Amino acid sequence: MPATIMDGKALAERIRGEVADEAKELGSLGLATVLVGDDPASGIYIRRKHEAAREAGITAHDHHLSAETTEDELLALIADLNADDSVDGILVQLPLPPQIDERRALRAVDPVKDVDGFHPATAGQLYLDDPTFVPATPLGIMALLEEYDVPLEGVRAVVIGRSTIVGKPAALLLLRANATVTICHSRTRDLAAEVAEADVLVAAVGKAGVVTAEMVKPGSVVIDVGMNRTDEGLRGDVDPTAAERAGLITPVPGGVGPMTIAMLLRNTIKAAKFRHGQLAFPGNPR
Ligand SMILES: NC(=O)c1ccc[n+]([C@@H]2O[C@H](COP(=O)([O-])OP(=O)(O)OC[C@H]3O[C@@H](n4cnc5c(N)ncnc54)[C@H](OP(=O)(O)O)[C@@H]3O)[C@@H](O)[C@H]2O)c1
Repeated sequence: MPATIMDGKALAERIRGEVADEAKELGSLGLATVLVGDDPASGIYIRRKHEAAREAGITAHDHHLSAETTEDELLALIADLNADDSVDGILVQLPLPPQIDERRALRAVDPVKDVDGFHPATAGQLYLDDPTFVPATPLGIMALLEEYDVPLEGVRAVVIGRSTIVGKPAALLLLRANATVTICHSRTRDLAAEVAEADVLVAAVGKAGVVTAEMVKPGSVVIDVGMNRTDEGLRGDVDPTAAERAGLITPVPGGVGPMTIAMLLRNTIKAAKFRHGQLAFPGNPR
């Protein structure tokens, strides 16, 4: 029997509607984005984030700096945004040009406004089992699993990929949900053997078709994070014919992708609640 398709587009739309309702209740909300340089893909991502924010009633503060911007100039802008009371969330679009140390830039963002979840203090909160902001893509994965009532307690979850943006936080969230988690990467000796055990598989690799249909455990849940531009169009990391073996599967496009922006908006709501004292921010008396 073919798998049920997990409709990320529909769920993301619903969440964006919920965010709009919450934004109305909270009053004026601001999301500042910082883009340095003219990377076309980054430009598209930023535009989509702005559109989604505006639709949800969140003011998008657009900061587009030239490719020649120095690290000091960027740090000064981030300091201004940290101090700006009309800004609830700040995101610095990656990658940054080579003259800027990405780690320094990400560390400069006030953790209470760190809606991307990339500051080491923010990542540490997740590690410590007391998350503040979790990166949007793994949050979107968890929201999809919840929407489709996927049981996680005690199941075997396999995450392929160990990036700080997707793989590692996804593995930590699955662990928090009491799954037994295996993390695979480019040095994993026998990927097929690991995937064959997965009740829940999260593929975040960046290589089209690295997971073939035969590798997938029959009836399992397959979350395909991959976004790979190929001659045939946008493809995931999982061969689409895996839908004939899986129980539930995310499509590419229309699965995890739309969830990422929805969860970024949800993080912005959370940031406003932290700043307005409606949620307790760890270590902050505000
Ligand atoms: N849908 C969305 O909203 C969204 C958001 C973010 C990313 N993505 C997509 O998700 C994919 C992964 O993104 P990322 O930022 O996490 O990428 P990344 O930083 O390049 O990480 C890729 C991971 O895959 C591992 N890997 C590479 N080849 C492998 C192989 N043959 N077998 C097993 N593991 C392998 C790497 O292992 P090593 O650590 O050993 O190098 C690494 O941990 C990309 O296609 C990206 O476009 C989608």
